Amino acid sequence: MMRRLDQLLANLGYCSRSEAREWIRAGRVTIRGVATDDFGAKAQAADVLVDGAPLDYPDGLLLIVHKPLGLVCSHEEREGPNVYSLLPERWRRRNPVVTSVGRLDKDTSGLLLLTDQSELVHRLTSPKHKVPKIYRATLERDLDPAIVALFAGGTLQLEGEKLPCVPAELKILGPRVAELTLTEGKYHQVRRMFAAAGNTVLTLHRRRFGHLELGELPVGQWRELPLVTFG
Ligand code: URA
Repeated sequence: MMRRLDQLLANLGYCSRSEAREWIRAGRVTIRGVATDDFGAKAQAADVLVDGAPLDYPDGLLLIVHKPLGLVCSHEEREGPNVYSLLPERWRRRNPVVTSVGRLDKDTSGLLLLTDQSELVHRLTSPKHKVPKIYRATLERDLDPAIVALFAGGTLQLEGEKLPCVPAELKILGPRVAELTLTEGKYHQVRRMFAAAGNTVLTLHRRRFGHLELGELPVGQWRELPLVTFG
């Protein structure tokens, strides 16, 4: 796809559109190795260099993040420090904006995906596509084995929701530790499901999203994934 130079730089978060025009006039931008002073010129992103360097992920970003506790997934400043603060400044200025694929609560750690591909967000969060997400929870009280059938039944109704929770698999790993696999993502769903069963989640960590796991990725770090990761 051919894109206008000033728009391309601004959308990739390099600078404002007017600054981009100055950069271009100053000869900092080349197309196939040739400097141009025409900021309206159109080019393939792969042919463009800024200060001699290729453009930063011009075709889109998909990141896997090990979310720490204490950060929100909202962009709203009022809601406190957010996961986007972990990213390079330039990525935080991109348009389309880099956003989370679904959300993890401030008090939840673990695997979070960030992307600027809205179609991917839609595909991965729509309950229709049934992407499994695995959460490890520690609980305040001993787990009653009957909760396995309750979560698997497909009839558990959470307050304020139109539809019951779709069947979810619970594996009890210890008296107060369990892993829950969800294929949907209602607001605070894991905490509310355990609350509906008379227990309280003390800690919550998402360890798997679809076929992805965090592996050795340290808390607070991210790594780029190929855009084709989900086919
Ligand atoms: N369910 C929750 O309750 N919290 C999360 O962060 C994710 C799922």
